[in-house]
Amino acid sequence: MNGIHLQSHLNAVGPEQLQGFFEGWPNPPSPETLHRILLGSYRSSVAVRRSTSEVVGFAQAISDGVLTAFIPLLEVLPEYRGRGLGLHLMRHLLAQLEHLYAVDLSCDDALYGFYERLGFQRGGGMIRRNYARQNGEG
Ligand SMILES: CC(C)(COP(=O)(O)OP(=O)(O)OC[C@H]1O[C@@H](n2cnc3c(N)ncnc32)[C@H](O)[C@@H]1OP(=O)(O)O)[C@@H](O)C(=O)NCCC(=O)NCCS
Repeated sequence: MNGIHLQSHLNAVGPEQLQGFFEGWPNPPSPETLHRILLGSYRSSVAVRRSTSEVVGFAQAISDGVLTAFIPLLEVLPEYRGRGLGLHLMRHLLAQLEHLYAVDLSCDDALYGFYERLGFQRGGGMIRRNYARQNGEG
């Protein structure tokens, strides 16, 4: 995408460049917490707008480093959606996970087609949430 580059490490990206994510979350993690999330990830892909150095999208994976990775978060800022950036971020992240056996995620039904384009298959899943901990603070 013009004017945007993907990087696999945060490098100099700080919390001030991680604004506007977690759209629609009632109790969202702060930019500082998102920074901690990315620092603690096994692998990540971060889309940075060259002109402003702001992050406009990211994907992150957690892993045991042996067999399995899980992709908890993928998000593109609303004004950058619909231009292929989500697929780019996922391909960039998946390229960093090719040594693993299983790469899993959970998603809404509406996104099945998006992930099938990336080689994912539909599978059953179970999730458990503690909404009091949604912002990841403390
Ligand atoms: C999902 C998301 C990352 C996609 O980002 P994006 O940059 O708009 O995606 P792309 O432009 O690469 O989309 C590629 C294709 O997937 C489709 N697609 C993208 N988002 C979709 C959605 N939410 N529902 C259904 N289809 C979708 C697009 O229509 C496009 O298809 P096309 O090429 O036939 O037009 C973005 O909508 C987002 O951040 N959503 C909020 C967070 C979220 O839902 N994350 C996923 C958690 S599992």
